[in-house]
Amino acid sequence: ELNACLFDLDGVIVDTAKFHYIAWRELANGLGFDLTEKQNEKLKGVSRVESLEIILKIGNVNLDPETKAKLAATKNDRYLELCQKMTPDDILPGVQVFLDSLIQEKIKIGLGSASKNARLILDYIGLTHYFATIVDGNRINKGKPDPETFLLGAEDLDVNPQNCIVFEDAVAGIQAAKAGGMVAVGIGSSAELNAANADLVIPGFQDIDVNTIKHLF
Ligand code: G6P
Ligand code: MG
Repeated sequence: ELNACLFDLDGVIVDTAKFHYIAWRELANGLGFDLTEKQNEKLKGVSRVESLEIILKIGNVNLDPETKAKLAATKNDRYLELCQKMTPDDILPGVQVFLDSLIQEKIKIGLGSASKNARLILDYIGLTHYFATIVDGNRINKGKPDPETFLLGAEDLDVNPQNCIVFEDAVAGIQAAKAGGMVAVGIGSSAELNAANADLVIPGFQDIDVNTIKHLF
């Protein structure tokens, strides 16, 4: 039985993934190497600090903690600069209609994002009021693929994990949902998400309605 839907933010509700990529790529270029789109896939759903570690490994660069902290801050400034122009027009297709239909069906709605900017982004795109709980990067100790993000969300909403669907664009996020005993729906290109054991993979929210997802139980 479906009681709640938990949404990742970046790449699911809004296409901020492209801004994260631009900002990380500029950082890599500044250090003298490039970051491919394929390498960027591995950063999706991964925290800022962990993403930087992965990137430094790709470039074979060793830095002291202080420099790393500075680079992470610079990346975030650049990311937020890119995000500033965001408006409700940037909500991905079908998302708001889908959220409205969940409200109508009295299915609870939560956000589960690794981002420390999640609230700000939701405000920019005008969707904050849909979410009965927001679990973001400021609240969690263990990032995806650990299930903590989504388990906290289920707890906040007072529902069993088995009665939740998680919507995710990242392999780490699908793994987190499955580790938490939830149904996982992948958003995006299917190969990697299917391999991560998503229960369903769809290109976007235009392709589903509440009835489709109720059948996943
Ligand atoms: C999301 C994105 C990642 C990002 C992480 C932390 O999970 O998919 O690309 O690194 O959030 O975001 P933040 O806004 O806190 O740097
Ligand atoms: Mg994401």
